[in-house]
Amino acid sequence: MRFVEELDVKGKRVFLRVDFNVPLTEEGEIRDDTRIRASLPTIIYLLEHGAKLVIASHLGRPKGKVDPKMSLKPAAARLASLIPNKVTQAPDVVGTEVTRLKKELKEGEVLLLENVRFTKAETDNDEAFARQLAEDIDVFVNDAFGSCHRAHASVVAIARFVKEKAAGYLLKKEVDYLRKAVHDPAKPYVAILGGAKVEDKIPVIENLLNKADDILIGGAMAYTFLKAQGKDVGKSLVEDDKLDIARTVLKKAAEKKVNFLLPLDHVLAAEVDAGAETEVVESLPFPAGKMGVDIGPKTVAAYAKIIAGAKTIVWNGPLGVFEIDKFAKGTIGIAESVAASGAISIVGGGDSIAAVKKAGVTDKISHISTGGGASLEFLAYETLPGIDALEN
Ligand code: 3PG
Repeated sequence: MRFVEELDVKGKRVFLRVDFNVPLTEEGEIRDDTRIRASLPTIIYLLEHGAKLVIASHLGRPKGKVDPKMSLKPAAARLASLIPNKVTQAPDVVGTEVTRLKKELKEGEVLLLENVRFTKAETDNDEAFARQLAEDIDVFVNDAFGSCHRAHASVVAIARFVKEKAAGYLLKKEVDYLRKAVHDPAKPYVAILGGAKVEDKIPVIENLLNKADDILIGGAMAYTFLKAQGKDVGKSLVEDDKLDIARTVLKKAAEKKVNFLLPLDHVLAAEVDAGAETEVVESLPFPAGKMGVDIGPKTVAAYAKIIAGAKTIVWNGPLGVFEIDKFAKGTIGIAESVAASGAISIVGGGDSIAAVKKAGVTDKISHISTGGGASLEFLAYETLPGIDALEN
């Protein structure tokens, strides 16, 4: 994969795919501009080296229709406030007006296209649409790590119609960290997996079973595994149709001698509500009408011991319903242990990032991935369609 610094972009029209999929308020204001800021090094590099810069991104999932609520206008305004260069917001993604604006672009200027998902051709990875995106473009730079797991036209198909292509700073940084974790992790290698759904994590677990020394499980998916072991987890959230898959995973972990750990104790409540009474239990079955909402202190201590000895840690998914303070102790405890470990730590997924922020340890994590789905898929498949498109 070539890197943007290896290209001569002076006077060239560069198509830069970014992930400006930022959260907006009801009023359409940007709630968190981390993703815009994350691509600034690439944007500034290209502008300072004389590129005529066309920037494209998606925002939300407008399902192929124009939806003013998902316009990139707020992102254009934010970008314009962060750099001294001229930023023009295009009225569309392709078409006569966009072609004219592209042609008029001067060195050091930006044209931000409208949301690429305003047409279904984007998500269809449509070739004709990709050709239109690539019209008058000399160089394709991808810095949209968060979108690289999507085989979409502005991520994948476009690469076939532009001669020169490269990764931006953000994409390179993400791939460098994740590749190291996947191919050459410093050992012991510990994976912490939480969140609600076992199904989402199966490919990652399958891959980690060949690489990790310890896999620490929390969140609602722990209850699917416990039920698969024949335990009664009361009212806890369980994917009953995934019990067989969970059993297979447990069997493989035992065969491969991976230390696959399920919680040793649990915080229980009658409902997911900030006002609910809680109790900590070690033994199963859970009392009738109670559900697990967090890992208990004994689990935090046991996991923390393993985390303290780790050299590489990947973490995706909270270990309890951490949005409610009463149920957040487990997730926060794990965040603090990861921060204190001194290991190379990679955290991905919106919820885990929010948990790390809530614990106040963001600056102690080696790498916080801007892509939740993308980082998870990379850990599972060791590459992504958007990365393949740049490499082949
Ligand atoms: C994300 O938010 O993870 C990326 O922007 C990808 O968005 P998507 O899941 O809608 O493709």
